[in-house]
Amino acid sequence: MSLPKTVVGVRIPGSEYDISVGRGLIQSAGEMLRAVSSSDRVMVLSDSQVGPLHLSALKQALKSAGARVIEATIPAGEEHKGLNTLLPVYDQFLASHIDRQTPLLALGGGVVGDMGGFVAATILRGVPLIQIPTTLLAMVDASVGGKTGVNHAVGKNLIGAFHQPAAVWIDPAVLTTLPPRELRGGLAECIKHDIIRDAGGFEQLEQNIHRALSLDLDYLQQLIAHNVAIKASVVAEDPFERGVRAHLNLGHTFGHAIETVSGYAYSHGEGVALGMAAAANLAKSLGLIDEESRRRIAAVIAQARLPVAGLKLDIDQVVEAMAFDKKVKSGRLRFVLPAPIGRAIIRDDVPVELVRQAVQSLV
Ligand SMILES: NC(=O)c1ccc[n+]([C@@H]2O[C@H](COP(=O)([O-])OP(=O)(O)OC[C@H]3O[C@@H](n4cnc5c(N)ncnc54)[C@H](O)[C@@H]3O)[C@@H](O)[C@H]2O)c1
Ligand SMILES: [Zn+2]
Repeated sequence: MSLPKTVVGVRIPGSEYDISVGRGLIQSAGEMLRAVSSSDRVMVLSDSQVGPLHLSALKQALKSAGARVIEATIPAGEEHKGLNTLLPVYDQFLASHIDRQTPLLALGGGVVGDMGGFVAATILRGVPLIQIPTTLLAMVDASVGGKTGVNHAVGKNLIGAFHQPAAVWIDPAVLTTLPPRELRGGLAECIKHDIIRDAGGFEQLEQNIHRALSLDLDYLQQLIAHNVAIKASVVAEDPFERGVRAHLNLGHTFGHAIETVSGYAYSHGEGVALGMAAAANLAKSLGLIDEESRRRIAAVIAQARLPVAGLKLDIDQVVEAMAFDKKVKSGRLRFVLPAPIGRAIIRDDVPVELVRQAVQSLV
């Protein structure tokens, strides 16, 4: 017997919606659709990797509720996250007699979620969006919070809009087809959430994170619901990213620099893992956490089979790349640091020598 569905309510001024997490949820997409929409047609966006795996189950469930499915598929991968990829998608949907009530369902990882969200925000000046995330990262991070968009040659996610979904449906069973490296990347964001918000959750992770790696779906359901609740509460406090939402950048200032300097040989999750280890080292040298907490942070990251050391990059290049990160405000590097585990603070007064030492500690 699997666990009953868990529902997390998101309450943001001007938009209220539910995030449902449950095994086999995709099979009940028809009923779930009828709870939020009476439209006789739906748009579904997916990508070339997720479509062949999970689209037919979704379509079948939607058809059983009497909804006609208009589908569009984009090529999988971050390199296709641009406006050009979306032009044929707009063509396809606009040729199919949609109206402002026609919901768009984004079935895929964060790339499909961000791009589908952007289409939903812009087509006919906005239609309802339903996120159906299929990577752990998209489930616990990208699908919550209403940020949508595409990349531009000048930088990532530079064209976009805030567009909150009407619903988010998460079926942990789809994670069984996810490549393990992608699963571990999502775990990096889960570790981040507990470090910044929940000391008790962090203890749970220390005991159970191996169950995520072995695809224990009951555990994954609990883990996802817990993380969605954390992300949703941070977003509800700061829907337009003007304050505490910055806490979600823990490990990301170091992480983005590592990703970039490595030419993306390190994935986002691996960069964030190393970045959180560096942040823990920095917090320790600033006296914000003790040695035991520093060790526990590194240990839980390593338990998720993510890197905490062995960095093979030029230290100065990484430090320099950090200075170009968009989180730099008025020329100062800003760091989100644990103080202690379960709480986060922002520091913009860290001497560059300590930053360098924190990167050096990853070698
Ligand atoms: N909107 C936000 O708040 C937010 C937050 C974090 C990240 N993001 C964005 O999310 C993107 C990264 O998301 P991602 O890591 O999910 O990458 P992704 O969407 O590229 O997915 C990774 C790969 O896994 C495949 N895949 C997805 N689900 C699968 C499944 N169940 N089985 C097999 N393969 C599957 C995809 O086709 C892709 O090849 C970035 O573009 C980033 O900017 C957005
Ligand atoms: Zn991230």
